[in-house]
Amino acid sequence: MAENVSGLAEGQSADQAPPMVSFENVTKTFNSRETGGRSFNALDDVSYSVPAGAITGIIGRSGAGKSTLVRLVNGLEKPSSGRVIVDGTDVSGLDEVALRSVRRSIGMIFQHFNLLSSRTVYDNIAMPLEIAGMSKQDIKKRIEPLIDLVGLSERTRHYPAQLSGGQKQRVGIARALASKPKLLLSDEATSALDPETTQQILSLLKTINRDLGLTVLLITHEMEVVKAVTSRVAVMDQGQIAESGRTFDVFTAPQHETTRSMLAALPGGSLPDWIGRQVIPEPQPGCNALIRLRFFGETADQPLVSRLMTVLGSPVNIIAGTVDEIAGEPYGTLYVAYSADPEVMANAQQFFSKTGLNAEVVGYVA
Ligand SMILES: Nc1ncnc2c1ncn2[C@@H]1O[C@H](COP(=O)(O)OP(=O)(O)OP(=O)(O)O)[C@@H](O)[C@H]1O
Ligand SMILES: [Mg+2]
Repeated sequence: MAENVSGLAEGQSADQAPPMVSFENVTKTFNSRETGGRSFNALDDVSYSVPAGAITGIIGRSGAGKSTLVRLVNGLEKPSSGRVIVDGTDVSGLDEVALRSVRRSIGMIFQHFNLLSSRTVYDNIAMPLEIAGMSKQDIKKRIEPLIDLVGLSERTRHYPAQLSGGQKQRVGIARALASKPKLLLSDEATSALDPETTQQILSLLKTINRDLGLTVLLITHEMEVVKAVTSRVAVMDQGQIAESGRTFDVFTAPQHETTRSMLAALPGGSLPDWIGRQVIPEPQPGCNALIRLRFFGETADQPLVSRLMTVLGSPVNIIAGTVDEIAGEPYGTLYVAYSADPEVMANAQQFFSKTGLNAEVVGYVA
């Protein structure tokens, strides 16, 4: 139950929880010089619910409309039509005063951290509370545990220029949490970080989601990020939600071309080049069939390849493979080749049907 580690009560799935954010037929039209003054839909009739308590990813290519979507959540943009409901409040019609109180229940972290260079770590984190008029004592009480949580206790007197990118983002996270938000919006918060630091920040977000029960809406163009921390994902393409669902389902059985091509960039997501170049679409006499096997759920931990060899009575060459984890569930891809002889192929097919193994003929190799 991936959802349970994401801050939901026992027995409660993300589908049953009331949504933290709902987009209802949201269209956002811009009239910009870039489009020659013509109107252009950055969001085009988007309906989508972000479940409370989970980490949900929004992924898409540059210009897909991801940032526009988050800007609608905190009221920085208004929809041209449709409604945006945040924790039960329709934010699309609110004035600035009412928006200010909604924004206090929303934390936000950014790609470039947006820290004040003239303020220390402590003072950056304290800033939203100072603005809200909280006393120095109360601020201290509120933010000291946060500084511990993000692992910056040794650096409270440092200035942003003295910090690494990962440390700066930790400051950003602590500052976002200072006003005790219910929702954390993250727009490309790891995009400026190296892969190792990215993983550390993602694991901090996971901890926060689990321990504080905070709903996280994570915007990214990196499939690796979605794979590592989200339990749900929506794939955006040209202002629309191309597909959405459990991250594991979307990643293992992508329906939309955009999802497929973005997944191909993941390790093991596509055939290695050296073998890809040799693949021919139709069988030739004496050639081998190239098969992609996918392992998940019950098939993930069975010795299926050795059983396949026994069933076929002919060699099975292992070409390439990866074993991975998507949203905390094991998932493997293995490319194998065996004789394209019709009888061997039929036996293999029978074996796949019987064992429930997901197998696909990718092509043929001489
Ligand atoms: N204020 C604006 N005026 C005119 N066009 C805009 C405005 N804001 C966004 N757009 C356009 O809307 C589209 C979606 O932009 P958005 O920033 O939401 O994309 P994105 O998915 O966040 O992309 P990226 O991954 O590059 O951040 C783009 O074509 C962008 O140029
Ligand atoms: Mg963006």
